[in-house]
Amino acid sequence: MSAEVTPAPTPTWTGATTLDSPTVLAHERARADLRSIVERLRELGVDFGSPLADPDTPRARAMRLAGLDALPAGEVERLLGITGDRLVAHGLAMRTDPDTQGPLLALSFGVFTVRGIAAILPRPAGEADRVYLANDTTWMLELLWPRLRRGARAVDLGAGTGFLAASLTQRFDQVVATDVHPAAAATARLTALVNPQLAGRLHVVRADIAAGLRPGAFDLVTANPPWVPSAAAVDRDGRPVFYADGGATGFELPLRFLHAAADLLAPGGLAAVMCVDGTFTDGRRPVAAACAQLDEDGFTTEIVPTPLARSHPGFEELARNRLPSLAAAGHVCVFVTRPG
Ligand SMILES: C[S@@+](CC[C@H](N)C(=O)[O-])C[C@H]1O[C@@H](n2cnc3c(N)ncnc32)[C@H](O)[C@@H]1O
Repeated sequence: MSAEVTPAPTPTWTGATTLDSPTVLAHERARADLRSIVERLRELGVDFGSPLADPDTPRARAMRLAGLDALPAGEVERLLGITGDRLVAHGLAMRTDPDTQGPLLALSFGVFTVRGIAAILPRPAGEADRVYLANDTTWMLELLWPRLRRGARAVDLGAGTGFLAASLTQRFDQVVATDVHPAAAATARLTALVNPQLAGRLHVVRADIAAGLRPGAFDLVTANPPWVPSAAAVDRDGRPVFYADGGATGFELPLRFLHAAADLLAPGGLAAVMCVDGTFTDGRRPVAAACAQLDEDGFTTEIVPTPLARSHPGFEELARNRLPSLAAAGHVCVFVTRPG
């Protein structure tokens, strides 16, 4: 006897498949619901920085929801204390047909919470306009934290979701986050909104790198700029991927961020810029050359490999595939100090 297996039909989702941050930002009720969702997830113990003991507790279920998983609609409503209709109406969730058995509901955004700081992460709807948050976002914190003293002012250039900028409020009185991409700037504003404990200390500006910021005014400057050569910074359909595009060779934009970061430093200030330290086959090494120039100008620079070397041993080959005129490449964090 043979049993025929009919594959389960793929559910059809309605509602918001990703968070449209500028629209949510513009609507008071959507903002209020977003705040209350994050508050509720916090109450339930969502924090990706502390391990999960039991996978079947309300905390574990809430972590799944915050981590972009779909759950039974009724459970989501109970966990968050908001109806599915309302979540969908405000662009905060998507769901399967409510008339079918066991409808599912999923948020249109993730809530990346570590050590009490929550960042809003729109569900990636494709690479082209993705608001970026990835492993290197947290490596920056790991590399930086042991070097940090308390200070008055910090700025994160090209802040993406605003997670790093929000985290810097734990050491700095006032933190500015810039991003030129409208969806990123709006998302970083939502991140500021869902961390009421920051009480107006995180300021998001939509700006090209550091445009409009006062040179010499910051104790800390951080940046994780795009560094992929333009021709390779495209998605599967050939559309440009903004968060990745570092300019023709991939060094143009990181070097602009590096110089802008050094200019912003107050006496004694520290800048940290993540990028690729590449050597061309003709011997040119743009990032090292920029550091040598900064050293000549009186700054102190240090080029430190990031954990990418360990987690991605094929990195150099990948970089050479993207730009064949490279002889060597490593992912690094450049530290720049202005003398006190
Ligand atoms: C690789 S993502 C890093 C995001 C975030 N700093 C992080 O580490 O998660 C690079 C970010 O730089 C932003 N960006 C690109 N060009 C920029 C520019 N000219 N001025 C400001 N931000 C820019 C992008 O929108 C994107 O959010």
